[in-house]
Amino acid sequence: MIKQLMSHRTIRKYKNIPVGEEILREILEAGCRASTTGNMQLYSIIITRDVARKKELAPLHFNQPMVLNAPLVLTFCADFNRFNKWCKLGKAEPGYDNFLSFVTAAIDVLLVAQNVTIAAESEGLGVCYLGTTTYLADKIIDVLKLPKGVIPVTTLTIGWPDEHPEQIDRLPLEAIIHDESYRDYTNEEISSFYKGKENREDNLKFVAENNKESLAQVFTDIRYKKGDNIAFSNRLLGVLKDQGFMNQ
Ligand SMILES: Cc1cc2nc3c(=O)[nH]c(=O)nc-3n(C[C@H](O)[C@H](O)[C@H](O)COP(=O)(O)O)c2cc1C
Repeated sequence: MIKQLMSHRTIRKYKNIPVGEEILREILEAGCRASTTGNMQLYSIIITRDVARKKELAPLHFNQPMVLNAPLVLTFCADFNRFNKWCKLGKAEPGYDNFLSFVTAAIDVLLVAQNVTIAAESEGLGVCYLGTTTYLADKIIDVLKLPKGVIPVTTLTIGWPDEHPEQIDRLPLEAIIHDESYRDYTNEEISSFYKGKENREDNLKFVAENNKESLAQVFTDIRYKKGDNIAFSNRLLGVLKDQGFMNQ
């Protein structure tokens, strides 16, 4: 298992071969063995195989090619709708229309998504997460007909790999772990921890091509810009309100 985790790489190109129903069920069952808060299982998974539906979803993921290229697109949603209905049937008053409850459900669903990822990879499938899910969540809600209480949190494209990319870097473990309590970083430590990433050939090229002074500027000025973050953040706050998670 550790060997499998250590050889993980995101797969963005897939063979034109479907993922069988049996294997799909198997990886979803394994995914749903993930621990969840109070075993409430506050999530739903929307399976998209239909090409027409994928064509509707693709622009909502900024036309990332994996959406059309992958045989399978799974949208993982935080879901209090089902649990609230069960509460009401049991003459119980649900108190889950608040931000904490959304975070709880989002944590649950991400654990499931990662379990599905590991299960899929163990069967030789390749997987790519789509972080774009939370950017235009309101539109994904329309396409997938998600009711109040349900918010898409992440998406996985899944298929049989048609590439074997080089593994990409990770920060050294020393950058991540803290013994007993948090020890803040010196500038020297930060420079040393990020040196490997900065000196990767593709990253050096990225910096040069974009006329930037540093890799950090590629992140702040090109990939994840403040203006975009604020705009999508405001949009997501609207989604949280519309779907009933803002302490209403
Ligand atoms: C929450 C999340 C969102 C991601 N979103 C995207 C995405 O929208 N498009 C993409 O090509 N890769 C996406 N990725 C994949 C990351 O780019 C990738 O995991 C990271 O660069 C490390 O590469 P590796 O998974 O091959 O080790 C995402 C990964 C995560 C965990």
